[in-house]
Amino acid sequence: MSLSLENMLNKKLENIFAALGLDTKFAFAKVSDRPDLSDFQCNGALALAKSERKNPREIATLIATELQKDSDLAKVSVDGPGFLNITLDDAFIAKTMNEAADDERFGVQKTTTPRKIVMDFGGPNVAKALHVGHLRSAVIGESLRRIEEFVGHDVVSDVHLGDWGTQMGMILAEIILQDGDLSKTETYNIDEISAFYKQANARCKENEAAKENARKITAELQNGDPVYRKAWQHLRKESLEAIKKNYLVLDAHFDLWLGESDAHDASGKIVEMAKDQGLAKIDDGALIIRLADDSKPPVILVKSDGGFGYQVTDIATIKMRVDDLQAQEILYVVDKRQALHFEQVFEVAEKLGIAPNVKFKHIGFGTVNGADGKPFKTRDGGVMNLEDLIALSLEKVKESLPEEAEGYTNTDIEKMAEQIAIGAIKFQDLKNNTASGYVFELEDFAKFEGKTGPYIQYAIARINSILRKAGMEPKDVVITNKEERDLALKIAQLNSVIARAEAEKEPSIISDYAYNLAQVFSSFYNASSILNEPNKEVAASRLKLAKLVRDILQLNLYLMGIEAPEAMLKK
Ligand code: ARG
Repeated sequence: MSLSLENMLNKKLENIFAALGLDTKFAFAKVSDRPDLSDFQCNGALALAKSERKNPREIATLIATELQKDSDLAKVSVDGPGFLNITLDDAFIAKTMNEAADDERFGVQKTTTPRKIVMDFGGPNVAKALHVGHLRSAVIGESLRRIEEFVGHDVVSDVHLGDWGTQMGMILAEIILQDGDLSKTETYNIDEISAFYKQANARCKENEAAKENARKITAELQNGDPVYRKAWQHLRKESLEAIKKNYLVLDAHFDLWLGESDAHDASGKIVEMAKDQGLAKIDDGALIIRLADDSKPPVILVKSDGGFGYQVTDIATIKMRVDDLQAQEILYVVDKRQALHFEQVFEVAEKLGIAPNVKFKHIGFGTVNGADGKPFKTRDGGVMNLEDLIALSLEKVKESLPEEAEGYTNTDIEKMAEQIAIGAIKFQDLKNNTASGYVFELEDFAKFEGKTGPYIQYAIARINSILRKAGMEPKDVVITNKEERDLALKIAQLNSVIARAEAEKEPSIISDYAYNLAQVFSSFYNASSILNEPNKEVAASRLKLAKLVRDILQLNLYLMGIEAPEAMLKK
């Protein structure tokens, strides 16, 4: 296991800080804000000035004097109020590139403090087809799952199926209304079930009595009515099968396929605990807990009809995740419009003491919008199904691929089109800041140029082709020009990029980096020939850098849940 360039530089700083008796908390360098002056800068002296009661320039000079003895560093200067500007020696850069290339993690360290993280994403609902709103939870959630795991945390992902809410009573009521009873329920497939749900939804929207009836049936289902439970089992099973197919296409991985219904017994326990602790109050027939901030709506433990709602289910699920899975951290990748819900749930979980020292975080994402800036709809104004969206993208990608190509079967081309289409959808989602919404771009999102998934995939395919054509083995990196040096320094950022994406729970940091790296590679390749370079040592060195870029881009795509085709065809 080798250290990345950034880690090595930080180690050097740490050693010097420690020797000088300075707090090593500030012993780290970041990519320089002034690339004309230096490669990296360390602002530790400024941070330490107060506690050391010294002029920051004085502290910086002490550190600089030590750093200047290090032959890995070409130039160290103290500038401005006390910035340390550091320029690396080319041989040091080359050495770290060789080490990164020979390491399967490219020098990125695993965390020394692994945590058990439960990730709650997906959040599909029984009988409702996955729509574009579910895309972001699956895509961002899966990306964060891979990032956390890569960093070394122990992650358990749970889909948290919506199978216990009022929509269940609505469908059951609708089937009874149309069939007379539930005897035919077990013959219905997912399309029929979804159709019942749509009709039920329309009915309950305009008919208060129908809604009331649905609530009553939901409560009876929850309380164990055997006829309802049997029909419900079937609805759940059919839905789950359809949902699993969708997630397979999206390559989203769930360790657990639990649902809200699995928290039923634990919800009962939560109610008992709340009563025992004197926290629960009866309010308008419902059992509630008030929050510290009285202006916020209270948490409803038991609804006036006797059923458990969304909130108590989430609180009970926390208890299960802590008791059964030993969760130390729980992350929810859910629409940011549910922020209040999570605030309420986290506060009550803390109040009840069911999750001591557990960290909660709601990673709220913005909506996928249409050109009008409103949540994405189909032409007829309905919600866009995920399957339709994927089909649409596939069609778009196929326009730019040849129908036939030498050396490729139809299946190869079909697979390539799928990888590109899914990659384009995911990249478009992940290139945007998680919290902001974005307009689903139907024209340019699958182009091979610009900030797109296919652009990165294409960069990988291009390097694959260079490696095939090179007819030689990659060998030791040597830095011979500015473009090689710039590329190497970009490569060296991988470590802090992943660390930042993990700390901020922000996959767009990875997509930004992948795009920049691919661009810097392009400049490098335009300036520094590989295949036509007469000096074989230089050519083999560039080939090694190219291969390293390919592997890092592939890792970046993996962290975004995107596959890269080995080669990419163009019409
Ligand atoms: N099924 C919910 C919905 O469609 C999302 C579930 C999110 N996860 C959670 N633990 N509440 O709104």
